[in-house]
Amino acid sequence: MSKKKGEAGYAVGLDLGTTGAKAGLIDGSGAVLETAMVPYETAAPGPGWAEQDPEQWWGASVQAISRLLSSSGVEAGSVSGVGLSGQMHGSVFLDSDLSVIRPCILWCDQRAAPQCRQITDSVGTEHLADWVSNRALAGFTAPKVLWLRENEPANYARVRALLLPKDYVNLRMTGNLSTDASDASGTLLFDVRRRAWSGRMLDALQIPREWLPPVYESSDVVGAVTAEAAGATGLEAGTPVAAGGADNACGALGMGVVAPGDVAVSIGSSGTVLAPTEKPAMDREMALHSFCHAMPGTWYMMGVMLSAGLSLRWFRDQLGEPERTLAERRGADPYRLLDETAAGAPPGCCGLIFLPYLTGERTPHVDPNAKGVLFGLDLTKTRAHVVRSIMEGVVFGLNDSVRIMRQLEIPLERVVAAGGGSRSALWLQIQADVFELPVRVAGESNAAMLGAALLGAVAGGAFSGVEEACRAAVSHGEPVKPDGRNEAAYHEAYGLFTSLYPALKGLF
Ligand code: XUL
Repeated sequence: MSKKKGEAGYAVGLDLGTTGAKAGLIDGSGAVLETAMVPYETAAPGPGWAEQDPEQWWGASVQAISRLLSSSGVEAGSVSGVGLSGQMHGSVFLDSDLSVIRPCILWCDQRAAPQCRQITDSVGTEHLADWVSNRALAGFTAPKVLWLRENEPANYARVRALLLPKDYVNLRMTGNLSTDASDASGTLLFDVRRRAWSGRMLDALQIPREWLPPVYESSDVVGAVTAEAAGATGLEAGTPVAAGGADNACGALGMGVVAPGDVAVSIGSSGTVLAPTEKPAMDREMALHSFCHAMPGTWYMMGVMLSAGLSLRWFRDQLGEPERTLAERRGADPYRLLDETAAGAPPGCCGLIFLPYLTGERTPHVDPNAKGVLFGLDLTKTRAHVVRSIMEGVVFGLNDSVRIMRQLEIPLERVVAAGGGSRSALWLQIQADVFELPVRVAGESNAAMLGAALLGAVAGGAFSGVEEACRAAVSHGEPVKPDGRNEAAYHEAYGLFTSLYPALKGLF
């Protein structure tokens, strides 16, 4: 099915991530032929702050796409569509000329915590649930707008448009203002159930409706590559550009997680659990995020853990000297040696429990003060127990989200695993055992980029719909099945895990 150079049917995907822009080229069957990554910096001008310059995103996107096209040798005229995936929640403030007013405040920036309290107090939890289906979190967009109003009134007075990160790149690509339902879901200004801006929320926060772009479905065409963008990227002017989607939603597309029953679990620096639903769903505490999926008529629930792979990286860097030294000698990956170390301890680690809250926690506790804990040390415990307890603690943390999804009766039948954690056979087995579900690894590791490219392919007419594109393009490895022999040990350990946070909360 793959196309030859010069034949129509290729698509370009661009994932505008937190560390860089990653471009990918897929053929007509959805196979990834070529990728190119261009990094950019994050500035921290204050404690807990994180900002990026949208101009740098554009520069990196241009470079990544032009490198991709020139190294692949594919003619620009045979690219049928372009799609973008982007880091969520960032606030790009534009003036009346659509110029950027100040650096974008990123999803991981914590400065707007006081504005979240204001929003929760003034709007009320019930209205938040009813109007926008999510609670106010500092990472989300609306609190950042309020922060700007209070702290940078001169900048605020110039604002005429508010965009999310990938929508700014789409503006530079097409000249048009747009967003899509999946990314708009993370603004706290969006009626997730109706897939439209929430007039009531905008009124309550006194944010002008005119600032917000039109909302599309992710595979809708929002414009075409302009002559200027064509000159910069090497794409052909007039190539259709899709609205694109939030990185988590696009990642799910690239993992083939498009319908109820499938659940995407990613262990990168952070960790996510994402399950599609046919109807909008919400848990009572709003512990999970309730967002629109990057396809019409589909939503998803998602839990986000802040230190998943980051917990094991912390161990590798601070206490993993033996594995690091051996890895260097053998030319091996230190994480594989940590797997070997961890395999020396039994499931459940004989009661040694790790709480993975090294940078506070989002789901389910929403507690920036939560801390990492190693509970249950005694003289019988070894390095093996410690390493394994970290891997298990991360999966227990993810299981907190799985448990809420089960309480909501969201069907969970198969896990698709992604991120660095999916390269560990032991971590996959721990996931299968703790979730009590078969776990398969997604065939393409750049899942958000693949999802974005598939949206571009649909926009360009290569597939009739997003679900069809994902089913055709995405492959999975053999399933890792739950091992019933480990069930009792994990039940006991998870029980202890869940009782530790409430017991220690006051001390954090
Ligand atoms: C999701 C979230 C992050 C960003 C990172 O709510 O904050 O996953 O999307 O790119």
